[in-house]
Amino acid sequence: MHNKVRILALALLGVPGALPALDNGLAKTPPMGWNSWNKFACNVSEDLIKSAADAIVSSGMKDAGYQYVVIDDCWQVSRDENGNIVPDSTRFPSGLKALGDYIHGKGLKFGIYSDAGTGTCQNRPGSRGYEFQDARQYAAWGVDYLKYDWCNAGQQNSEASYSIMSQALKKSGRPIVFSLCEWGSTKPWLWAKDIGNLWRTTGDIADKWSGSKDDGLGVVQILDLEDGIESYAGPGHWNDPDMLEVGNGGMNNTEYRAHFSMWCLLAAPLMAGNDIRNMPPEIHDILTNKEAIAVDQDPAGIQGRRVKKSGELEIWSKQLSDGGRAVSLLNRGGAEANITVNWADLGYPEHLSAGVRDLWLKKDLGKMSGSFSSAVPSHGVVLVRIRP
Ligand code: GLA
Repeated sequence: MHNKVRILALALLGVPGALPALDNGLAKTPPMGWNSWNKFACNVSEDLIKSAADAIVSSGMKDAGYQYVVIDDCWQVSRDENGNIVPDSTRFPSGLKALGDYIHGKGLKFGIYSDAGTGTCQNRPGSRGYEFQDARQYAAWGVDYLKYDWCNAGQQNSEASYSIMSQALKKSGRPIVFSLCEWGSTKPWLWAKDIGNLWRTTGDIADKWSGSKDDGLGVVQILDLEDGIESYAGPGHWNDPDMLEVGNGGMNNTEYRAHFSMWCLLAAPLMAGNDIRNMPPEIHDILTNKEAIAVDQDPAGIQGRRVKKSGELEIWSKQLSDGGRAVSLLNRGGAEANITVNWADLGYPEHLSAGVRDLWLKKDLGKMSGSFSSAVPSHGVVLVRIRP
């Protein structure tokens, strides 16, 4: 049978895996950028987005790898008589094409937000029924990244709904990173690999170390939800534990360092969510730690996993392309504690001699055999890179 006919026939029969894999060539490493939501919510405007783009460049974040500038919810107000989506002309007087040009002029990429249902989470118009028209419009504006939410979707089937927009983006003729945001509710890691480049795995993050389902997930609740889904991530398709809260004021710097380290260990998308125009130096230094970012962006694209848990003390390890490991000693408890990682926890023979480098002290700690131990502050990590 002719290949195209075969694929179509299999697709119509509903054979799983029969559709060609999403091959948009994008997000070979986890996407990095900035998104307006966590800090600014609906308070978006062209001035804010332009000044954020300026700050990504002037702060050194662009040099550290941050690329996508994403306007989240509330840029859109209605549809015109032809069904075209209408941006808020008071907040974006120059229009989104001009804004995209500005962002591109800085050597950055332009991201936008919509929703698979009839309305967004802030009840702005969603894309349901307008997928192809919206995708064409995004491409005309120069959009490079779409975050696609799941509010007001009623009884819609998630896989089918996200597939339509995936096809629409493909047809738009412009390479656009597709970021699924259905909060892990229908286990997108099981079906989204051929549809999108990243998918949220949990409900919304809150700017706190520990929370609950009702008052927002804290960093540690999100970490627990990542345990066990590592193998679904890889180049071009990532688990997304939600955007960063680093610098938003609800945690201390030890906690923010741990939050950032753990996201790097998880090969998570790194979307800063703070006011990057006014960052204290400590926050800037967390977001731009190039050695931690290199762990996140390692070309092998292997998500790290929890390899040991003893009460509040945990060890997480990420396999790197050079045969080494990034290891995070994580202390979730209320007091400083000593944590030891044994080479056996990492799949290494005990006699192996390996170099250990502390990625926050930016210091080689020497060659070690068998194990490495360190004191770890409460709600903190010690993040090391181990090179056999
Ligand atoms: C949902 C998403 C958030 C954000 C808001 C915007 O809650 O999960 O990340 O996009 O909608 O309304």
